[in-house]
Amino acid sequence: MGRYDEVFRQSIQDPEAFWGRAAEAIRWYRKWDKILDDTNKPFYRWFAGGELNTCYNALDTHVEGGRGDQVALIYDSPVTKTIQKFTYREVLDLVAKFAGVLKGQGVEKGTTVIIYMPMIPQAVFAMLACARLGAVHSVVFGGFASHELAIRIDDAKPKLIISASGAVEVSRLIEYKPLLDKAIERARHKPEKCIIFQRPLVKASMMAGRDLDWEELMTKAEPVGCTPVKATDPLYILYTSGTTGKPKGVVRDNGGHAVALRWSLEHIYGVRPGDTFWAASDVGWVVGHSYIVYGPLLAGCTTILYEGKSVGTPDPGAFWRVISQHNVKVLFTAPTAFRAIKKEDPNGDHIGKYDLSGFKYLFLAGERLDPDTYHWARNLLKKPVIDHWWQTETGWPITANCMGIEEFQIKPGSSTKPVPGYNVQVLDTTGRRLGAKQEGLVVIKLPLPPGTLPTLWNADQRFLESYLKPFPGYYFTSDGGHIDEDGYVFIMGRVDDVINVAGHRLSTGEMEEVVATHSDVAECAVIGVHDSLKGQLPLGMVVLKAGVEKDADDIKKELRQLMRNTIGPIACYKETCVVKRLPKTRSGKILRATMRKIADGEPYAMPSTIDDPASLNEIEEALKSAGYAQKK
Ligand code: COA
Ligand code: AMP
Repeated sequence: MGRYDEVFRQSIQDPEAFWGRAAEAIRWYRKWDKILDDTNKPFYRWFAGGELNTCYNALDTHVEGGRGDQVALIYDSPVTKTIQKFTYREVLDLVAKFAGVLKGQGVEKGTTVIIYMPMIPQAVFAMLACARLGAVHSVVFGGFASHELAIRIDDAKPKLIISASGAVEVSRLIEYKPLLDKAIERARHKPEKCIIFQRPLVKASMMAGRDLDWEELMTKAEPVGCTPVKATDPLYILYTSGTTGKPKGVVRDNGGHAVALRWSLEHIYGVRPGDTFWAASDVGWVVGHSYIVYGPLLAGCTTILYEGKSVGTPDPGAFWRVISQHNVKVLFTAPTAFRAIKKEDPNGDHIGKYDLSGFKYLFLAGERLDPDTYHWARNLLKKPVIDHWWQTETGWPITANCMGIEEFQIKPGSSTKPVPGYNVQVLDTTGRRLGAKQEGLVVIKLPLPPGTLPTLWNADQRFLESYLKPFPGYYFTSDGGHIDEDGYVFIMGRVDDVINVAGHRLSTGEMEEVVATHSDVAECAVIGVHDSLKGQLPLGMVVLKAGVEKDADDIKKELRQLMRNTIGPIACYKETCVVKRLPKTRSGKILRATMRKIADGEPYAMPSTIDDPASLNEIEEALKSAGYAQKK
């Protein structure tokens, strides 16, 4: 039996012993009563009765242990031409002080705080300061518009919102404050205060009595220590797209999260304290939470906060520059970022300009790593290129090639094997377990390992309905795929209305709700079509109200703007196809999956339940004339 097989077996056969050992790497104020509390199945809780503080484990413990002068955070911002380094001691001082600021505003254990910030160090300090007080943060990605922010404000009901005056997107200035003001205006729940970090690039106008200046508050603040919280207390809420307009508030606890992330850095990513780990993502996504902020700091690594893109800031050599300049050992990003580099620098000329000798592994996730991109990166970098699969819900990888356990031969298209702790299986729609290479629905046998979602914020029932009820005894991932005869897992894509655009998870159901608000639209469907750069892009299929004579181009422009203003630019909604009717089943269900196949030029079968077969031919013609439905 190889090392991986042995470690995996232990994790599944005796999860309590396995995670109990891993938990020794964390400092606890009080050890747990029970490693895995299963008294309220199917809700499982890890390290019940234990007490700790996540910020203490991310900062104080390293300073106390002699890492105070090690760089904890490197802020590398090509868009503002800034590089700033903060040691563990400096981060601790700033976080302790900002926690003092928050405390002064009445934030305490259990208080919810929304953080709507660009990729600046203050975003990291704000997250850690909340953790220090036992407050629950909810970071909202900066590419979301006011409407999305308002939905999250109403659900999380924050006492306080922390934001910044603006950001630069490549070269475009984005003002955050007007978006924040509009969101608060729209939301039913009103935060008591907003703390705004004024960036030199743009000055936010402040609302007297509500808005407070970050720097001003910091000059008067006193540092505060860590508040012990229960292992099972929430550390954060992170909203992610579901199949409706109401995003799901994924809850992360303190204890299981700290244990799992600390373990993952060493065993999955193969890094040690003192190594530099770079997740080129955004603090607004789960990758940013786990692998820009908490994971690397819990493991005593140096983390990088990169305010830029893989291309255009300033060129497709940007990633190689950062890796060589900061001696990055592991880079983690999304395949789309690499497809963007490949498009601009197909021969990898920029790679040769930098010393990448300290660079060991490239990890990719967020969407399936297509074999073309895998081979391109592997051939040019000559380093292991590792696809690994996970979700906002799990918070850390479900399948990976675990560099700290045993390195496997890679099979392009597969994210390798289940990570210890995750008992991954493939079922058919009736719940029958499928054999090797049989395509089906991917599930994880309960209990999930520590660090994964214990529930959804104030929505236990939705948690059960979405994840646990479809297949009792299992967590349903909503991904389709198969496992081959060697145990390699192949994740082929979502089986619900969630699409993946440039590694960002978006809901077509939510987009349909937005399109439907346009006064000329009678009916609509939004589908995800293949895109060679971003993986998928949304495409709207709309039927106009009787009597509307508007030009299709005008409708397209208006819907584009509507989507930008409502969900945000990150939705990447650009294309709309105006059609006479949508194909439906006899019971009235829109045939979205069939339309998607037609749009992508894939073979499709005429559904036996179709109401009128001619409607599908009409759709095919419309899609063809819009430039889609090109046979592969
Ligand atoms: N604030 C405001 N706007 C934002 C934003 C933010 N934080 N992030 C993105 N946007 C805007 C972009 O400017 C763009 O606007 P545009 O339509 O006016 O050009 C739009 O949202 C779409 O952004 P994106 O999909 O990121 O496209 P891009 O062309 O700017 O960049 C890539 C393409 C591939 C370089 C980029 O998507 C990328 O690096 N993706 C990796 C994603 C990732 O790390 N995912 C996390 C999982 S690991
Ligand atoms: P998110 O919650 O934004 O991390 O998105 C999770 C979804 O992204 C998963 O359910 C998958 O559909 C997809 N995904 C993430 N990583 C991978 C991967 N390595 N391979 C295939 N799909 C992936």
